[in-house]
Amino acid sequence: MAGRSRFLRHYAPGLALAVWVPTVALGAWAWWSAPQRGREPDDTRRAVRVTAEERAVVLEVMRANLVAIQAVLDAQASGDLPAVAVAARAAADTPGPAARLGSLKHKLPPEWREVGKQVDASFAAMSEQARLGNSAGVTRELANNTAACVSCHAMFRLTLEDAR
Ligand code: HEC
Repeated sequence: MAGRSRFLRHYAPGLALAVWVPTVALGAWAWWSAPQRGREPDDTRRAVRVTAEERAVVLEVMRANLVAIQAVLDAQASGDLPAVAVAARAAADTPGPAARLGSLKHKLPPEWREVGKQVDASFAAMSEQARLGNSAGVTRELANNTAACVSCHAMFRLTLEDAR
């Protein structure tokens, strides 16, 4: 027992330092590197590098997406299928980011374009279901549609080209 406490008295400061130094270094690195990369350390989404103008266009389309979904849900909640058909058709025909700004065509990765097409396709299918008077079909397409929003949001984030 006495032997062990002499051992601790002798080595404890060194041991504490050996733990403390890497902990602080790692903490400092995490603190420094997270803002450098413009994201939280546990953010695994792929960064799509865009200019400020391109980001503004993408986010504008996104906000329009949310407005469109809300318009459809509102009409669906009132049982107004003709209004659902009109709102969903308008959403399907709204041009996406790459159609609005040519430079985005080369920047948005194929997976992005793929999920974007799913959003348009489900808005079109939703409109068709409403036109057929199939309320349950509209609800199904609303779920398909928002699943596409969710899957892209889980995959990608935007980052400014001039940020590191
Ligand atoms: C193909 C990819 C993709 C699809 C599909 C998509 N989004 Fe987005 N959305 C994004 C990205 C990327 C951002 C920016 C996230 C970031 O940088 O942190 C975003 C941001 C947003 C924002 C925030 C806008 C702002 O001004 O900050 C809203 C709202 C939004 N999306 C709604 C939707 C809705 C609703 C749908 C489905 C109807 C949808 N999005 C489908 C990729 C997508």
